[in-house]
Amino acid sequence: MLPILARRMAACRRAVPPLAAAAPAIRRPFSASAVAASDKLFVHRDTPDNNETVPFEFTSQNLARAREIMKKYPPQYKKAATLPLLDLAQRQNGWTSIATMNYIAKMLDVPPMRVYEVATFYTMYNREPVGKYFLQVCTTTPCQLCGSDEILDTIQKHLGIKVGETTKDKTFTLVEVECAGACVNAPVLAVNDDYFEDLTSEATIKILDELKKGGSPKPGPVSGRQNCEPKAGLTSLTTPPTGPGFGIRKDL
Ligand code: FES
Repeated sequence: MLPILARRMAACRRAVPPLAAAAPAIRRPFSASAVAASDKLFVHRDTPDNNETVPFEFTSQNLARAREIMKKYPPQYKKAATLPLLDLAQRQNGWTSIATMNYIAKMLDVPPMRVYEVATFYTMYNREPVGKYFLQVCTTTPCQLCGSDEILDTIQKHLGIKVGETTKDKTFTLVEVECAGACVNAPVLAVNDDYFEDLTSEATIKILDELKKGGSPKPGPVSGRQNCEPKAGLTSLTTPPTGPGFGIRKDL
């Protein structure tokens, strides 16, 4: 029996055609546009100002604030407070150093990597020291169509710095950002927490000069608009609203 079985198996093996040679892989790119690299290096490098031995801890006032923030979340989800605590730490320290991130991680009882991941994902956390006035020029489409390139150019020329740089006296740091969420009032420049809107080159220079002198220019639209109402007057709600009973049958 065995030789017969062996002969049949050999015949089966011969009947099976050899596998076809693998077809060469076809490379299909997702996009044909150029890769836009980030202007930031998100890898930590120890510097004299930014290393784990530089001490950081909340002031007593901020510690009380941090505890209040953490109370908003169930104890097992303390890590949900990562964003607001990082923000608080940045406001106290001026920027988000490795020591501040480690401090927050300890406070929230999470591995430091969990905090690093958040701080490197959100661009509002500055991982390098910035000037007293942090200038963020929005250059996304609505702002670009309304002249943000000119505003950026004006700031660079007026302060003598390029995007990503800080003036020598550490007063201004300039960055370019994506939509600041105020497109109706484009072009927009954020200075720390304040927005300056409907900007022109002249208005931008005036704002910068006032800041240089230590003044506090009034935030908001510089065009005379109050908020984001239409520039050319109302286009809706132009008549008084109808009163109660409007459109109801008279016999009801
Ligand atoms: S595009 Fe500039 S604020 Fe939205």
